[in-house]
Amino acid sequence: MLIIHAHPRPSQSRVVKQLLGVLAAQPGAELRSLYELYPDFDIDVEAEQQALLRWQKIIWLTPVHWYSVPSLMKHWIDQVLVLGWAYGQGGDALRGKTCWWVSSAGGAHEAYRPQGLHGRHFADHVAPLAQTVRFCGMQWWPPFVAHGAHATTDAAIAQACAQLRTDCQAFLQAPAPHGDAP
Ligand SMILES: Cc1cc2nc3c(=O)[nH]c(=O)nc-3n(C[C@H](O)[C@H](O)[C@H](O)COP(=O)(O)O)c2cc1C
Repeated sequence: MLIIHAHPRPSQSRVVKQLLGVLAAQPGAELRSLYELYPDFDIDVEAEQQALLRWQKIIWLTPVHWYSVPSLMKHWIDQVLVLGWAYGQGGDALRGKTCWWVSSAGGAHEAYRPQGLHGRHFADHVAPLAQTVRFCGMQWWPPFVAHGAHATTDAAIAQACAQLRTDCQAFLQAPAPHGDAP
């Protein structure tokens, strides 16, 4: 599996750092940490596309920033998932792959509901990302979210890591999707 990791301040990370430990420990995982590779946002598009071609299972690992991914990850989407390669005529490079967003959110689980602080369920906020993935012919795996990062405890992080370990096995063992029209 390929891990695309994007955290703008990895040294200050508590949660994503631990989630990364779980994912990177999977046998054969390839890790690309975008803020280390491209601190000036000058993405090597060819290298990123080649990495994507090597794997069927792709993980995006980021904190939630404004109900989406951090800016370098969004820039990666804009630069790498291009017409004629990821979508449109001849753009079938990603078809049949599965993509999973593993994330950490400051907001508590209870705050992500219609009457809560964030006004919607988490899955409703991420519809544009889900559709981006589907538009490129990939399967969108239900996101993993470690909620409540601001007030979290070491025990809660450990629990999230245990859950992620289990969920990751299901993700890795899932068969490739069929009926792949975006
Ligand atoms: C620019 C920015 C935007 C953020 N937007 C959100 C958000 O939309 N929803 C949310 O729940 N948390 C939001 N947060 C909180 C982060 O998700 C939280 O700090 C992060 O998950 C903590 O993980 P870490 O310990 O790995 O840094 C935001 C944080 C920053 C810095």
